Amino acid sequence: MTVGRSLSSRLVLSWVATLTIVFFTLPATVYLPLAALRIGDIAEIGLESWTTRRARILVIDALRADASGTRRIELTRGLLVHMQRNPEFRFAVFEPKDGGLLPGSSTELASHFAPSTKVESFGSMFHLADDPNSDARGYDRIAETPIGRMRIIVYGAYFHWDDVLQQLYNHLKLINFIAFIPLCAAVAAVACFVVRRCLAPLRAAAAEVAVVDVNSLDRQIASMDLPTEVLPFVEAVNDAFDRVRDGVERHRRFTANAAHELRTPVAILKARVDRLNDKPLKHDIERDVRRIQTIVDQLLILARLGGANKKSDREIDLGHTVLAITADYMPIAIDNRRTIEFEPPPARVAARVDGWVVESVVANLVENAVRAEPEDGTVVVRVLPGAVIEVADHGDGVAPEDRERIFEAFWRKNDASRGAGLGLAIVRELLDELHGSIEVRTTEGGGATFVVRLPSA
Ligand SMILES: Nc1ncnc2c1ncn2[C@@H]1O[C@H](COP(=O)(O)OP(=O)(O)OP(=O)(O)O)[C@@H](O)[C@H]1O
Ligand SMILES: [Mg+2]
Repeated sequence: MTVGRSLSSRLVLSWVATLTIVFFTLPATVYLPLAALRIGDIAEIGLESWTTRRARILVIDALRADASGTRRIELTRGLLVHMQRNPEFRFAVFEPKDGGLLPGSSTELASHFAPSTKVESFGSMFHLADDPNSDARGYDRIAETPIGRMRIIVYGAYFHWDDVLQQLYNHLKLINFIAFIPLCAAVAAVACFVVRRCLAPLRAAAAEVAVVDVNSLDRQIASMDLPTEVLPFVEAVNDAFDRVRDGVERHRRFTANAAHELRTPVAILKARVDRLNDKPLKHDIERDVRRIQTIVDQLLILARLGGANKKSDREIDLGHTVLAITADYMPIAIDNRRTIEFEPPPARVAARVDGWVVESVVANLVENAVRAEPEDGTVVVRVLPGAVIEVADHGDGVAPEDRERIFEAFWRKNDASRGAGLGLAIVRELLDELHGSIEVRTTEGGGATFVVRLPSA
């Protein structure tokens, strides 16, 4: 998951960006409109508190102490400019310990305060009762200054728009940044959690898609719990499934029809060959016809595979079924100077599968085994408990690197082989659908042993 593409990281980034803007412009974005509209307490403490605060900072900047320790207020440029803009502006600074008034203070303002009055360090806003201007506000508080703790009283300044900038500047303090970090961490955690929660249905949908194959294209991804933003994508996938399914179905029907159509001419050809008199030619043509017949039959099974349901609710006696198929192949094997031995299971073995499926699987394996078996050899067919069938021959075996490839359609070890290379592909496909399995091992003493596991009853 690259950070740039991760939804969580994008969300976190955008939230943090929004938070940063809101957090550091809070005084302007929240207080200003409220104060301007004179809504609630903000009107009292908002704009005026900025103004008095600005005034207090100017006064603190103007505090001086000389070498002998005498303290006074110097008329700094900042203070002067402020006084010019606010003709009613006055200030007074007391020593909090002995209540001494610092030179430079407004004695008129100071006269309103008993020097010994206890003032909370967080201060208080006031209005002088005898002031005819009812909007005038002042602030009285104890502050840490470069010359020590001082009680600073300011009064009579009015709000100016640049107080907002001053307030924003004051807001950009280290402590605010530090407070901001846990906030960002919380936002990141919430964003990750929310994204994970929202995308859980998408993961479930992906798991559904992951198991779709050519035989389960009729599936549709459930879109109920999905976020609406990904719905178009899921609907497009579902539509694609529909189209692919239609295409696969068309191909399947085509193969089935073609194979079916081929059966009749092949049967007629066989009947004609039967009437031929030239023995060697007849033998050759008969072999060719058999080969064509097998290919057509295999194609037909392959085409039917996807459509038919191979799971059966009946159970069959696997020993009986396999014995019957093996018996059918005995004459062919004997003709080819090989034999087939059947080893029955110790007790009845039941499998929940259609008879024709077992027939197709065993017939293909036995046919291959008889072909691989050396002359005068014996192919062994076993049924074992747990619905397992083994077909063992003593031929050349299957090289380890071919053990997967032999199950691919049209794969043959060499072109001299009489088959089309479809038999094992069909077997694998059948077993896959039944959730069974097939594997090749080496027969003791050499050769191939195919082990088939069917769903047992
Ligand atoms: N018992 C075996 N021993 C050695 N090789 C085998 C055995 N069974 C199959 N193979 C190899 O696997 C290839 C594929 O087998 P598969 O049954 O799919 O096709 P085929 O027998 O050639 O043709 P078809 O079964 O379509 O008539 C064979 O051509 C052969 O090379
Ligand atoms: Mg075969």
